Amino acid sequence: MADKLIIFDTTLRDGEQSPGASMTKDEKLRIARQLERLRVDVIEAGFAASSNGDFEAVKAIAGHIRDSTVCSLARANDRDIGRAAEALAGAERARIHTFIATSELHMAAKLRMTREQVLEQARMAVRFARNLCPDVEFSPEDGYRSDPDFLAQVLEAVIDEGAGTINIPDTVGYAVPELFGDFIRRLRERIPNSDRAIWSVHCHNDLGMAVANSLAGVKVGGARQVECTINGLGERAGNCSLEEVVMAVRTRRDHYGLEVGIDTTQIVPASRMVSQTTGFVVQPNKAVVGANAFAHASGIHQDGVLKARDTYEIMRAEDVGWSANKIVLGKLSGRNAFRQRLHDLGIEMDSEAEVNAAFARFKDLADRKSEIFDEDIIALVGDESVTAEQEHYRLLSLAQRSETGERPHASVAFAAGEQEFHADSDGNGPVDASLKAIESKVGSGAELMLYSVNAITSGSTESQGEVTVRLQLGGRVVNGVGADPDIVVASAKAYLAALNKLHSATDRVAAQGWP
Ligand code: KIV
Ligand code: ZN
Repeated sequence: MADKLIIFDTTLRDGEQSPGASMTKDEKLRIARQLERLRVDVIEAGFAASSNGDFEAVKAIAGHIRDSTVCSLARANDRDIGRAAEALAGAERARIHTFIATSELHMAAKLRMTREQVLEQARMAVRFARNLCPDVEFSPEDGYRSDPDFLAQVLEAVIDEGAGTINIPDTVGYAVPELFGDFIRRLRERIPNSDRAIWSVHCHNDLGMAVANSLAGVKVGGARQVECTINGLGERAGNCSLEEVVMAVRTRRDHYGLEVGIDTTQIVPASRMVSQTTGFVVQPNKAVVGANAFAHASGIHQDGVLKARDTYEIMRAEDVGWSANKIVLGKLSGRNAFRQRLHDLGIEMDSEAEVNAAFARFKDLADRKSEIFDEDIIALVGDESVTAEQEHYRLLSLAQRSETGERPHASVAFAAGEQEFHADSDGNGPVDASLKAIESKVGSGAELMLYSVNAITSGSTESQGEVTVRLQLGGRVVNGVGADPDIVVASAKAYLAALNKLHSATDRVAAQGWP
């Protein structure tokens, strides 16, 4: 029986720290359910003490997820650890993940603490956490750039206090595979009680080596847990990508000799859901989940694959959940077929009213688009999951006129809470005119940092356009996503979705004076 590699997903915590990737509680819960279907071993649901929103999200996930361990991050202090335990109280299996920086640079410049103080605080934090939860993980932040002698001292102490998982982060993505694997191996060899903990790696991708470093940590270092995110989402260049690590270990089982408990057919649905929710588009040539990952364009390759699939394919597209744009529903599909499809996609709705509202949107879409694919349903349900509280701004109607030689013009009607607004504007194009019309009434002053359009399903101009708009205001960055067969409408929806995020409860201050 091969050893098991534990997959610890931190999309909802470290992934969400990526500017603009913040998610609502309902969005996080939906992704957590998909992670459970993917059968990840541990879901890091958030950082409970960091905000009320995060606390509520961790609590909701802890209350719903049954098959994966639910984890909350906590700094190494009693308040953070207490909040994490409180948020995790309803979990079937809970983990508290506590951390403190151990590199000279972080201790001096950020924490302003001595080595002795950090050692003591780490020890006390793990002791306190163990009194609240039997499953405790400890991370020395910036561990890879820490002095190995001091690091070993801290890790031996926290294992003595009962930390069952020791996670070594390469916080700034500075490691290279040969050195990182060796670093983990040496640490394990020199710490007398190292066999009382499972060793874990947590790599950032600043030099594009997060996956390679994690795998070296496993193969050379003996780590048996990898911390990773869907699509490699994360701050700066992101985290280690779950799909790449899982498929590497599975495809090269001859080399790694490890089992992973992941249901790989759920990888692509998870990737789509995270990308559609956060607005972080997956590059077409991204391994495993990119649109071109299994596309053979060259004649020689096509010929080879037709003759014998494994001439150019080392994985099967269907094994990671690619189903080539299957038409699933159409205009004549009824409520039961729609409900069944939601069920097959693992989408659970909390009430009959939610199913009805989603079905109404589906019918509306089916009137305008003859073939409805799974991706359309996921996008449509994404729109639906926004609660009334979060959806302060709502598009009511949009008309636009553009003609060669004429300056485009848009008339937009939208609701802001109970009020209705009608706005007109010219623009360089119909999208520009529509967003300017909305802005003329809202007056947010937010800076547009990114605008992108993607076809939700490939191969047809009938596809829905999915638009991502990234806005920045007062140091806060948010993404809004909108989908519609009409990309001007999708753009207006995306802009309003981003304004909704800026307007949400935690940002009322930023939104003062807006309608
Ligand atoms: O990158 C990092 O150091 C982290 C820790 C909190 C585990 O995310
Ligand atoms: Zn990290």
